[in-house]
Amino acid sequence: MLNDIQEVLYDAEQIQQKVKELGEQLSRDFNDRNPLVICILKGAFIFMADLVKNMDIPLELDFMAISSYGASTKSSGVVKIIKDLDTPVEGRDVLIVEDIIDSGLTLSYLIDVLERRNAKSVTVATLFDKPAGRTVDLEADYTGFTLPDAFVVGYGLDYAERYRNLPLIGILKPEVYSK
Ligand code: PRP
Ligand code: MN
Ligand code: MG
Repeated sequence: MLNDIQEVLYDAEQIQQKVKELGEQLSRDFNDRNPLVICILKGAFIFMADLVKNMDIPLELDFMAISSYGASTKSSGVVKIIKDLDTPVEGRDVLIVEDIIDSGLTLSYLIDVLERRNAKSVTVATLFDKPAGRTVDLEADYTGFTLPDAFVVGYGLDYAERYRNLPLIGILKPEVYSK
C-alpha cells in the first residue's frame, strides 16, 4: 500500500500530535455543553476515534454516512445521506467531525440539514482542508492541516474504498487512478 504513495505529507506521529491539540482545544470550548459529536462516515471514522480519546468532557456520539465521491477522484456534486443520525439534534450543540473539506459541498449540505432540524449550534472540526478545491464559500471552525491541491489518501481518506487504513496522509501516485 505504501508503494502507491508518491509523497507522505504528514506521518502518523505528526497527525497524532495535531489531533491531541484539537481535542484539548475542543474540550475547553465545549466544556459543560454536552455536545453531540457527529462523525461523518466513512472518512472521519479514524479522526473521530482519535479525537474523542483526547476530549476529557461529557459528550455524546452519533454517526451519519454521507457520500458525494463514489469511486472517483472528483466529487459528483450530488450529496446523499446513506445513514442518518439516531439522535434528535434539536436544541443541541452539534460538533461535526470531518476528515477533509474539499469542494465544501458535503458540509454545506449537512450544515443546512442540521440547522433545519433546529440544532442550537453547529460547529465544524476538520482534520484536513484543501482550500484549492472549494466551490462553495465555507470555512471550518477548527482545522488541523491545510493540504495542497493533490489527491490524498490515508487516515480515513480513500480512493475507491482503499487506503483508509494507512496511519498517515499522503499523495496517491497518479498512475494508481489513471490505469
Ligand atoms: C469525502 C470526504 C468528505 C468529502 C469532502 O467523502 O470524506 O466527507 O468527501 O469533499 P467535499 O468537500 O468536496 O464535499 P466521500 O464522499 O468520498 O465519502 P467517504 O467519506 O465515505 O469516503
Ligand atoms: Mn466523507
Ligand atoms: Mg471517499
